[in-house]
Amino acid sequence: MLELAEERARDRQHPKGRKTARERIRMLLDEGTFAEIDRFAGGDIDQGYLGCGVITGFGTVEGRPVAVYAQDFSVLGGTLGQTEGRKIMHLMDQAMRLRIPVISLLDSGGARIQEGVAALAQYGHIFKAISDASGVIPQISVILGPCAGGAVYGPALTDFIIMTKRSSYMFVTGPGVVKAVTGEDISSEELGGGDLHNIESGVAHFLAEDEEQALEYARGLLTYLPSNCQEEPPRYAFEEDPQTTANAQAVADLVPESPKEGYDCRDVIEALVDHGEFLEVHSLFAPNVVVGFACFNGTPVGIVSNQPSVDAGTLDVAASEKSARFVQMCDAFSLPIVTLVDVPGYRPGSEQERAGIIRRGAKLITAYSTASVPMVTIIVRKAYGGAFIVMGSKSLGADFNYSWPSSQIAVMGSEGAVDIVFRKQLRKAGEEGRNVAEQRAYYQELYSKQSVNPNLSLNIGELDALIDPKDTRSIICRSLRVLESKRRNVASDRYHNNPPQ
Ligand code: HXC
Repeated sequence: MLELAEERARDRQHPKGRKTARERIRMLLDEGTFAEIDRFAGGDIDQGYLGCGVITGFGTVEGRPVAVYAQDFSVLGGTLGQTEGRKIMHLMDQAMRLRIPVISLLDSGGARIQEGVAALAQYGHIFKAISDASGVIPQISVILGPCAGGAVYGPALTDFIIMTKRSSYMFVTGPGVVKAVTGEDISSEELGGGDLHNIESGVAHFLAEDEEQALEYARGLLTYLPSNCQEEPPRYAFEEDPQTTANAQAVADLVPESPKEGYDCRDVIEALVDHGEFLEVHSLFAPNVVVGFACFNGTPVGIVSNQPSVDAGTLDVAASEKSARFVQMCDAFSLPIVTLVDVPGYRPGSEQERAGIIRRGAKLITAYSTASVPMVTIIVRKAYGGAFIVMGSKSLGADFNYSWPSSQIAVMGSEGAVDIVFRKQLRKAGEEGRNVAEQRAYYQELYSKQSVNPNLSLNIGELDALIDPKDTRSIICRSLRVLESKRRNVASDRYHNNPPQ
């Protein structure tokens, strides 16, 4: 009878190019480790119905225990009724007791209409459980089919969302309702497909080619994360190999001298980290900032870097929110944060002001200011204005801040500054009939020499030292080693902060 149910699931899913819930669980977990719970709950064995629309249980990923639930689209469209809700709650309770990550494989028509508000209430319970578990255990959502209606807020509350290029949708209201209410004719793909949520909305963090890669991303993520907030992230044996050393020592070659020339900061990151391995998160959203995981001497860290090849690496609303969330996630799960700075400032203009750069940019400040994990910041080339401060500066709480010697650090670039600082001199030059352009160039150079350098930052202790680029990796490794015993400041009188909206 069990084989019959699986066959029915295969018949339903395979023609659409999708795997069954059980096949997905097998692909996610280490071979033969799945231990199912509540197998027959919600079924009617006498009538031949075996279980309900969700499969729950435990297993291991790279030998470490995880909890997993997979919605089974072959049973009532994987919809959530009371039994499904109770099963998921049972699993989450256990996961919290065991302090292990939860991975959800979602493929569902949402709340089971026939069960009315009793089904809706289950979503409420699940949202509460996810919120309670947030920051305690890692939670990863893999969207492998429809995820419709208010159900989308489950994954939205978790740490990471992985989608696939096809057959993976998230929307608050589906195309049918949209058409009926607004008249807009739109496909599921356009309304809430993997491309849209990875590139435009920023809802999803990974876009996989197919289900296999999606589950591979989930496995990969777990290798960098501890099982819970009280555990240290996993450590890996690492022996410095000649290639890692050579790449790290040649890192300066990857950064053009001219601050106006772009380069891909991912090349710099890969040159600095163990084996050049970097797992980028949110790679398609707000690409003017790059975030992701890597290791230094076998210790996992989170990396945040401006991306000079996209819009010169300026910070905007999307980049601020993307990096703020990543910093907060690292802080929740004890991952040190390494920040690489090369930023001309916040993106100016009315479009950004209208978009709320004040409140949304403030999220990054909150994230760094409230983080208590080890933080090491390297200024690679330039750091101007507020962006210098918000990118993991010492004044926000970073532990070690270094700069390459030729870096440009100032309130603003010389082009903008001369018209403010030397306004009187330039006006006088104009009145006296002197060549104003020449005078501007003169004052610009004067300002650059006097004010655009790391000297003041060193004098006031905002920078610990200037470092030779070839020593960057070894200094990051050394700093992280020193910071291993950093005490986390968890004691506070307040219930929680009130972060920017
Ligand atoms: C009950 C449902 C259902 C639902 C699908 N089914 N959605 N049953 N409640 N919400 C059933 C179908 O009747 C069908 O049953 C089976 O699941 C498979 O569905 P199909 O439509 O045949 O599959 P497909 O063509 O692939 O389309 C899948 C779908 C579509 C895109 C998900 O079914 C759909 O649009 N469903 C409604 C989605 C939606 O609006 N959900 C929001 C509900 S409200 P049979 O017996 O034929 O196999 C919600 C709020 C949560 O979720 C609130 C939280 C705060």
